[in-house]
Amino acid sequence: MTGPISLRRPVEDDHPRLIGQVDDWWGGRKLHQILPRLWFQHFAGTSWVAEDEGGHLVGFLVGFVSPDHPDEAYVHMIATSPNHRKAGLGRMLYERFFEDMKARGVRRVKAITWPGNRVSVGFHRSMGFTPDDGPGTQNLYGTPAYPDYDADGDDRVVFSRDL
Ligand SMILES: CC(C)(COP(=O)(O)OP(=O)(O)OC[C@H]1O[C@@H](n2cnc3c(N)ncnc32)[C@H](O)[C@@H]1OP(=O)(O)O)[C@@H](O)C(=O)NCCC(=O)NCCS
Repeated sequence: MTGPISLRRPVEDDHPRLIGQVDDWWGGRKLHQILPRLWFQHFAGTSWVAEDEGGHLVGFLVGFVSPDHPDEAYVHMIATSPNHRKAGLGRMLYERFFEDMKARGVRRVKAITWPGNRVSVGFHRSMGFTPDDGPGTQNLYGTPAYPDYDADGDDRVVFSRDL
């Protein structure tokens, strides 16, 4: 880690500060399209942002407790600044989320990713997630995944981790 990093709940003003950076954090993919302001309005109480000593945003996790399955939480997005990778920050965000969810009675965390995102697949495996590998899955890019899960061509790995 390059310096002390602190975690706090997001506020709505974090959205414009973060949104201009996220495509860059995802290597140029237009991921800002799936991070609308609503995440910072309605899910701040179950999400986290990471700040460096200078108050710069260097990571975030947006997630929630499933309204339909209260023993389950879902992580929609997690990312860290390219300047702070491989230094434990992604782990710190997930561990804080796990701790928080456990205290609320959640027993399982789910996260979905694209099988071609090898960084995300490796990261989630390191964080103790396992991919669904039952009926309907195929080996895609070396990972069990559901073809056409979200739409034609939108294959997805469905990861779960028990708390
Ligand atoms: C995925 C991401 C959040 C990881 O963040 P990070 O701060 O580098 O993660 P950490 O340093 O805390 O690493 C945590 C674990 O994941 C593993 N990991 C991190 N990057 C990895 C990579 N590129 N390939 C394989 N494993 C990786 C680490 O080895 C570590 O395991 P360990 O603690 O057992 O040694 C970051 O690379 C990122 O923001 N990527 C772009 C956004 C993205 O793809 N997000 C995930 C999908 S929503």
